Amino acid sequence: KKVYKARSLTTFLIAMSQKIKNFNSQAKMLAIFIVGLLVGGLATYGLLGYSSKQQTQSYEQQTQSHEQQLQSYVDKIKARGKLIVGTSADWPPFEYVDANHNYAGIDIEIAKRIAQELGVSLEIKDMKFAGLIEALKNGDVDIVIADMTPTAEREKVVDFSIPYYTSKGYAVVTLQSANIKSEQDLYGKKIGVQLGTIQEEWANNNLKGKAEVKSYDRVYPEMVWALQRGDIDAMILGDKIADALITKEPSLKIATYVSIPTIGGAVAVPQGAEDLKYVVNSVIEKLIDSGEMQQIFNNEIAKWLGSS
Ligand code: ARG
Repeated sequence: KKVYKARSLTTFLIAMSQKIKNFNSQAKMLAIFIVGLLVGGLATYGLLGYSSKQQTQSYEQQTQSHEQQLQSYVDKIKARGKLIVGTSADWPPFEYVDANHNYAGIDIEIAKRIAQELGVSLEIKDMKFAGLIEALKNGDVDIVIADMTPTAEREKVVDFSIPYYTSKGYAVVTLQSANIKSEQDLYGKKIGVQLGTIQEEWANNNLKGKAEVKSYDRVYPEMVWALQRGDIDAMILGDKIADALITKEPSLKIATYVSIPTIGGAVAVPQGAEDLKYVVNSVIEKLIDSGEMQQIFNNEIAKWLGSS
């Protein structure tokens, strides 16, 4: 019996210790499981929360930086308190230097209206026409107003506003005494154009090998002097400057037109400057719809013709 008892005790103890072991490992398992759940849950929650927060944040950041970018052009100008306009002031009646050494002309008036709309002052930067696009790309100027015609090539690097007039085409201006009546009459002659303009492009495409094309940085007065001196036989210009020139200088005439009617001028803005383009377009639209644009043209042409 003793032996049995002892045996049964041993068995009991063994069984108990086994149980405790089992309990221990079960408890351990349970504990690990619970801790695991907690950690996992926290981690999952944390990760989910974090990542969703990240998502919201980056989405907000995206929208914000997008809006900031959209607003940055107008905001920058307003913060500076000044609109910087690039032009080539050699092209009356759009832009020229008047007798008082002030910049004047149709484009300058449009620039004033845009500055007014933005509530800032106006600074005109006069440069070579051929350097205007680069200056705009570099941010040296906020916009370009220089009777610039939108072209596919220019649109690759800058954006354009709606146009503010249409053109009859390119005018060939000669001395009264010249015997040029057609495009063919230009063959064998010296033809002046402004560097970087669509008139220069036209001349290079249509007169290459047939006439001598000479490019000038400035039209008024330099290229006009060249014509009067006899350095060139004709100049190819926009229709408006041609009209103004022949009225002011009786020794000149429009010999003929080349090319078909085109869009006239538009304001060039940096690519993606949507907010600025919107302001510019609304100013131009208002001026056209109210008839003020026509008035600006009439006044500025008269002013230039009256100036010495
Ligand atoms: N409309 C022409 C062009 O876009 C000539 C403009 C010349 N403008 C000037 N300010 N010189 O090429």
